Amino acid sequence: MKSLVYLLFFLCLVSCSSRKQIEYRVEPLFSLQLDSTLLSVQTIDSQLNVPWEITWGPDNRVWFTEQSGTVSRIDPESGKKQLLLTIPGVHRERTMGLLGMAVRKFENGDIYAYMDYTIKRDTSIRSRLVRFRLNNDTLVDPKLLLEIPGGIGHNGSRVAFAPDGSLLWSTGDIFNGKNAQDKNSLNGKILRFNADGTIPADNPIPGSPVWAWGFRNIQGIASTLKGNIFTSEHGDATDDEVNLIRPGQNYGWPIIQGYADRPEEKTNNPFLPPKKSWTPTIAPSGLDYYHSTRIPEWNNCLLLASLKDQSFRVLQLDSAQQDIVKELVLLKDVLGRIRDICVSPGGDVYLSTSNRDWNPSTGFPKQQDDRIIKLSAAGKGKVAAKTITTSAPADLYSMYCASCHKADGAGLPGIYPALKSNAVVLGNKQTLVRLILTGKGQMPAFHFLSDKELATIISQVRHSWNNQATPITPEEVKEARVKF
Ligand code: HEC
Repeated sequence: MKSLVYLLFFLCLVSCSSRKQIEYRVEPLFSLQLDSTLLSVQTIDSQLNVPWEITWGPDNRVWFTEQSGTVSRIDPESGKKQLLLTIPGVHRERTMGLLGMAVRKFENGDIYAYMDYTIKRDTSIRSRLVRFRLNNDTLVDPKLLLEIPGGIGHNGSRVAFAPDGSLLWSTGDIFNGKNAQDKNSLNGKILRFNADGTIPADNPIPGSPVWAWGFRNIQGIASTLKGNIFTSEHGDATDDEVNLIRPGQNYGWPIIQGYADRPEEKTNNPFLPPKKSWTPTIAPSGLDYYHSTRIPEWNNCLLLASLKDQSFRVLQLDSAQQDIVKELVLLKDVLGRIRDICVSPGGDVYLSTSNRDWNPSTGFPKQQDDRIIKLSAAGKGKVAAKTITTSAPADLYSMYCASCHKADGAGLPGIYPALKSNAVVLGNKQTLVRLILTGKGQMPAFHFLSDKELATIISQVRHSWNNQATPITPEEVKEARVKF
């Protein structure tokens, strides 16, 4: 009898512990109610350090880069994770580091990963496009495809395969707008290559990888079922964009921002306007195309991650897959900054957070950050009751200033000055208004805001976080504007 009890106890131990291993799936964080589909939101990996790229691999795993220079893959079913590569010499600082990656399986069965990262030689910053081959569980045989000038910011980038099998690399203007319009510069462009890194014979400029130009800092590339290629891009103080890319076309930066709707944007150069632009900016990042009946509300939509706005956006396309007809904002301020998105062939969606990057918002990172999150259509009764949809629109300071100076006015040491107890904020009104109208260094100009809007923001800044200076009137803004 006694031995039978022991045996039962032992069996229970075995089965309980083995079940624990099989049940990798963590409890849903919460559920998300769409029109007719209930989505389960789960964490599949946590305590990462800026998973900059997440992409669905040909081996049915989620492959991801982390900004400091590692590449890993995780099986979302079992939770099994492997570190495939640590790249020596990656220079991570601000937005520099290991960024975009594309993974592809070729006809002979070989799997290659293409990625781009920043290096620093003495004081010279460079961006590299490098290809690796998967050998068992390791990425080997690095082949440098191209090296171009890098900068302390605006290094892009995304790496993606186009529907025709060519390789696209979006590069940033490295804080020099002139690069974007200069067809001899490889910055501020979409570059196109064959899979071996050579230049396709049908590129618009013979012998050049330049495929489209006039870009500031592209952060997302996605292709639709019909083969249309869309990008997402960061604007300056205004006009973040989603563009439909045509080869050999100019997208306007720095001459044009958004729809060329301001008097100073007159130009005789032909350019293609965006399919959507956002002012105030949202800092759009990873972009992917969804076509599945698994989440029917999102079929034929672009899915867009946002850093500054801390949201996940669903952009409904028309049937030609050329125009954006509707936008839905989800998960606002729930997960923090969202960096990238990928979709599995089964129609599940994965997101990566970016709360350990150089510019986290107030209240982040949380202990679990950064995370890879799975959104999947949930069977009835399987998800927790808490449902999250969208939240109320933010005030003007949050929309235009908090991404740099932070919600608590504390700024970012050495990069963005604190506005709390700041002598300029508390000092001469006309000097302060003029600075905000004209911008300075890496602070954008805000002259596009109305006198009333500026008066509201500046008064708010002068009266928050224990600042106790008198408010500014719209008349005082007008006065400064005339002088400027
Ligand atoms: C993209 C980031 C960014 C945004 C957005 C931004 N600023 Fe700034 N701001 C800066 C930087 C960088 C500086 C420092 C400029 C310099 O001295 O070169 C600065 C400086 C300032 C200063 C002067 C502080 C000092 O000590 O000299 C004030 C005041 C200010 N910003 C207010 C604002 C307000 C108000 C907004 C929103 C309307 C705003 N900023 C939006 C980046 C930003």
